[in-house]
Amino acid sequence: MNDSFIIKGLAGRKTLKGKIAVNGAKNAVLKALAASFLFKGEVFIKNVPHIKDVSMMVSLLESLGATVGKKNRTLVVYPPKKSDGHFGDMIAKRLRASIVVSGPILARYGAVSFPHPGGCVLGARPIDLFLEGYKKMGARVSVKGGYYHMHVPSGRLKGTTLFFKNQSVGATETFMMAAVLAEGKTILKNCACEPEIAHLAEFLNSCGAHIKGAGTHTIEIRGVKNPLRVRKAYTTLPDRLETGSFLILAALAGKDITITQCNPGHVEALIEVLSLSGVTMKVGKDTLRVYNNGRKVFQAADIKTHEYPGFPTDLQAPMAVFLSQAKGSSLIFETIFEARLEYVKELVHMGADISICDPHRAIVEGPTKLVGRKLESPDIRAGLAFILAAIIARDESIIHNVDKIDRGYERVEERLSLLGVSILRVPGKA
Ligand code: UD1
Repeated sequence: MNDSFIIKGLAGRKTLKGKIAVNGAKNAVLKALAASFLFKGEVFIKNVPHIKDVSMMVSLLESLGATVGKKNRTLVVYPPKKSDGHFGDMIAKRLRASIVVSGPILARYGAVSFPHPGGCVLGARPIDLFLEGYKKMGARVSVKGGYYHMHVPSGRLKGTTLFFKNQSVGATETFMMAAVLAEGKTILKNCACEPEIAHLAEFLNSCGAHIKGAGTHTIEIRGVKNPLRVRKAYTTLPDRLETGSFLILAALAGKDITITQCNPGHVEALIEVLSLSGVTMKVGKDTLRVYNNGRKVFQAADIKTHEYPGFPTDLQAPMAVFLSQAKGSSLIFETIFEARLEYVKELVHMGADISICDPHRAIVEGPTKLVGRKLESPDIRAGLAFILAAIIARDESIIHNVDKIDRGYERVEERLSLLGVSILRVPGKA
């Protein structure tokens, strides 16, 4: 059994105070690790968060022949000269981001095989964009024994134009990386614009890649023949989803909280909604301070999840907890994933007034008083939402399955304790 958290709620009091620092972004570092296969020689990756998804990704890299060294928050990856490109079941089925590794592997070693990638269950999570894209770049694609097999008969992927029917973060990053070692020019259209993508492109360009337009909807890549040479270390940017999670916590239960080592420019959509609801914040260069909210009643607000720079789907569940405390009726419209409102029934069980209209929409009536309950963390972000709900509720809550939360948030209980949250980790039985 996994570890659990026992949280003693504040019963609506806003007493938390202090500073909380943001770690390196999970969704950035996983892609930098994947990118290491594009290199000849060792790749240094700095500001790495100590989270389960990173350990899983490191194991995947090792199973593909890489050697990975670790010192504090730096990882050093030595990509192999050869790799059979075969992903083990165990990790690939648990880590959705494993599919991003397929791009650099196929581009560098000419063959890759993987099972359908797993990860958080947020809906169907298809991989059609990947399969279609690889075919267009000259790979042969087949499915055998529960595995997708891809190989490049000519030995080198060919540049092409890909139009993504959905803006996919993973597909944008994967094909951007694959195209770095492909023959000729690749144009990617309708790309996702998440900051992690431009940050990765900047790093690859500094090491000899030719990528233009990353961070916009059209990216052009001119392929190079030989693996990239490392010229500098990759430094993971601050996690905007961790920043947003802490910001929502501060609004809900903070007396005076400062979030440090963050990039407020990456959470503008959230800052805007919280400001409109009446939350008092001070936005610094790399800090966010939430204060003076003690007696305020926040106003309802509608949110619609959207690709960056819109409201992030990963903050939808934590935001639902905030809206349960705001006055009036708020609409949550989840446009990216079709099974991302499953957590709502647990919040209702705690006393929230939320009705599900259809798989994509819910209406939250507030404010409501929440009561502590036994909860099971369904995925990283809903798990974090349950922590927030438990913190503001009356009485005690027990959150099981915190393994899911550990996938994306490093030692969250220790960091929240420093703000005054009563949270205890109870180790699961082996
Ligand atoms: C990434 C993030 C995740 C975030 C999500 C959306 C990582 C490790 N994870 O996930 O935290 O919630 O972006 O911001 O970076 N789609 C297809 N076909 C495909 C691939 C995707 O239709 O082949 C669809 C998905 O079903 C979804 C949409 O595209 O509706 C966006 O998903 P995508 O951006 O690919 O999510 P991930 O990259 O897996």
